[in-house]
Amino acid sequence: MAISVRHEDNSFERYIAEVRAVWGDGKDPQLPFKVRALMEKMLKSTAPEEPWMAEILRDGKPSRELYRDPQNGFIQMGHVHKQGHGNTPHDHGPCWVVYGAYSGVTEITLYERTDDGKEPGRAAVQKKELHRLSPGVAYAYLPGDIHSTHAVDGPAMVFRFLSYDLEQIERHRYNPEKGTVVRV
Ligand SMILES: [Fe+2]
Repeated sequence: MAISVRHEDNSFERYIAEVRAVWGDGKDPQLPFKVRALMEKMLKSTAPEEPWMAEILRDGKPSRELYRDPQNGFIQMGHVHKQGHGNTPHDHGPCWVVYGAYSGVTEITLYERTDDGKEPGRAAVQKKELHRLSPGVAYAYLPGDIHSTHAVDGPAMVFRFLSYDLEQIERHRYNPEKGTVVRV
């Protein structure tokens, strides 16, 4: 169930209105970082008692679509992950993404690809950076950025802003141990 952003004056509605206001044609290279800043502002200004947030925390659902923009196609997801929950290395194809923590701590590992990508199904990746998302912290990941997530302190309430519907695009998942990559 999507959260109504039309009739309530709350921090989520304000955040979405602010993202819409900076969106333009969606091609500004600074847009991921603008959304990151707006998300951090929303994370820091939302009390757990606010009804829309209280509902997310109470439901504890691993994945919810909170908002889908009818004009621009961006999607705001909400996740509540148990401690230990993880996601294997993947990219978002041509899309960018902003991850932000409301509660708990989620670590996001960034990888760099070290092979030439010429052999189908093979990919060598190695860790290059670790981001620690504590409450109020968000990071932007650009098209092609390979990343994995791990809830190190839970429950971890994580916002995931998708620049476009991932079901509509081609992206990849990586296995660093086996050196393989598959389309998803
Ligand atoms: Fe991701």
